[in-house]
Amino acid sequence: MKPKILVTRATFDDVIAKLRERFEVEDNQKDDAPWSTEEFRRRLADKDGVLPTGSDRVDAATLDAAPRLKAVCNIAVGYNNIDLAACSERGILATNTPGVLDDTTADMTWALLMAAARRVAEAERWLRAGNWKGWKNDQFLGVDVHHATLGIIGMGRIGRAIARRAKGFSMRILYHNRRRVPKAVEKQLGAKYVSMEKLLKESDFISLNMPYSPEVHHLIGAAQLAHMKPTAVIVNAARGGIIDDAALVQALKERRIAAAGLDVFEGEPKFNPGFLEVDNVALVPHIGSATRATRTSMAMLASKNLSAALSGRRPPNLLNPEAWPKRRR
Ligand code: DGY
Repeated sequence: MKPKILVTRATFDDVIAKLRERFEVEDNQKDDAPWSTEEFRRRLADKDGVLPTGSDRVDAATLDAAPRLKAVCNIAVGYNNIDLAACSERGILATNTPGVLDDTTADMTWALLMAAARRVAEAERWLRAGNWKGWKNDQFLGVDVHHATLGIIGMGRIGRAIARRAKGFSMRILYHNRRRVPKAVEKQLGAKYVSMEKLLKESDFISLNMPYSPEVHHLIGAAQLAHMKPTAVIVNAARGGIIDDAALVQALKERRIAAAGLDVFEGEPKFNPGFLEVDNVALVPHIGSATRATRTSMAMLASKNLSAALSGRRPPNLLNPEAWPKRRR
């Protein structure tokens, strides 16, 4: 008998077809409606594996509703939706999809950075509203990206991909990270390690690129925004909650910083309505990794992790190695 798996949200049909070769698949292809907690738990009750997205909460109570569950293989690199400790306690393997979305997410970070710097979203809204009567010297003046200083907070794979792009804009690159990266990497990227305070003070553009954890909750709040230049632009394509959104709305309203570009929000898909009242922010709905190629690679990598886990092999992207010796079989 094939192992039973659940795919919580619609993915590409060819991914589902591939999964069906090895598993009995219950999917959400037709409706793609997010399930309630109860519905999710009910569907999980007889499953051996699950492929959730970053917006499906996999907590202890959900795991308790799934006595046969052996693997939770997120179709996302972020995994703050999964209670890893609860998985480990129960011998359930958890995985994510690192590596396959770095360049795509770095591209989106740059799209937001450019849009915020050159007021692209704001100017487009104005043009669509029929306001354009003719060329003006000071119409939508923005700030220069080239030769400016970029501050990267979180110099992992995505941070590095962002830095590589910045070299093409002749930018000075500062970074801050939990641990300093190897000197050879710094040299290759032309990036200088600095304290958080120096980065906030000296950067024209700041990009956040770290996974969410309680330690980085509101890493950027009123105090940090106050350190930034009045001409600074901040971009977050990492996770909601790293920025204190209420503090950011206030700083944007009072023009204490120039602009922001946001792909992620606290409590998404809801977000602070204050963002809709300010023009100096470019907003997109968590689409950092949203290209067909990358979303396919993410789903395929998650499937590979699941196949390994359900056939007794160690999954390539295991997040909780402590669960391996006591894994459910
Ligand atoms: C990720 O992979 O974590 C992206 O945010 C998509 O959810």
